[in-house]
Amino acid sequence: MWDYSETVMDHYRNPRNVGKIDDADAIGIAGSLSCGDQLKIYLKIKDGIVTDAKFQTFGCGSAVASSSMLTEMIIGKTIDEVKKITNKDIADKLGGLPPEKMHCSVMGYEALEDALKNYGHDDMVDLDDLREEAVREKIVCTCFNVTENLIWDAIKQNGLKTVEEVTNYTKAGGACGKCKALIQDIIDTYYHKEEKPVQLTAAQKIIRINNIIEKTISPELQKDGGDITLIDVDGNKVMVKLRGKCSGCKNSVHTLKSFVETTLKDTVDKNIEVVEVE
Ligand code: FES
Repeated sequence: MWDYSETVMDHYRNPRNVGKIDDADAIGIAGSLSCGDQLKIYLKIKDGIVTDAKFQTFGCGSAVASSSMLTEMIIGKTIDEVKKITNKDIADKLGGLPPEKMHCSVMGYEALEDALKNYGHDDMVDLDDLREEAVREKIVCTCFNVTENLIWDAIKQNGLKTVEEVTNYTKAGGACGKCKALIQDIIDTYYHKEEKPVQLTAAQKIIRINNIIEKTISPELQKDGGDITLIDVDGNKVMVKLRGKCSGCKNSVHTLKSFVETTLKDTVDKNIEVVEVE
């Protein structure tokens, strides 16, 4: 049994805005029945404001609750405000969702995005064209029809770092698992692109090195009775003194290179070289 918040249970038992708007100005679809859940959202828009929203969904309780909450969140909002809503906002408004159910909030976000993409195209031929275009987007997970764009957005909006988290949020990777390597590639690409190395001044670099040593490296060494002190920094050369059990230990070179230096390379500058001084 999932641990749902009271808000989720309320929206599940008494879903708001269920149904269809016959003369909708925008319609968005996410998910597919073959993948187990689908959401269709209908929007009525006047003067740039969402005046009505309804949904039809085939899915679990959290899909119903996410869709219901989403419609409540967007009615009365401007298009610009609605465009800023993320799946995290939906989940937060619901008082949270179990990790394995976060994909329901992503489905809401995806349907909304689809509707906004279609808004302003006033005949169904255009809508169909757009939908075909969406289908041509790169599908990463063929078991659940999850596109690269959706995975990228889920990573960005929720700070996802592992394939398992991406599966929880999008379902991608949750069946045959053949797409897991591709998902890992997207995660790697995202963090490589987003985390551009910041150019630190010499003073900022020393402060950061000191912080990493004090807050990350030293506590780890203390667990085994050792410790470390920063002695000096000269460009990329970091001079340290090992203390306690680390001092004079036959593994001290290994500790310095594979732990201390690697940690500082990963967090401060990949050119750092750590040297032990007496
Ligand atoms: S292709 Fe993604 S789980 Fe099968």
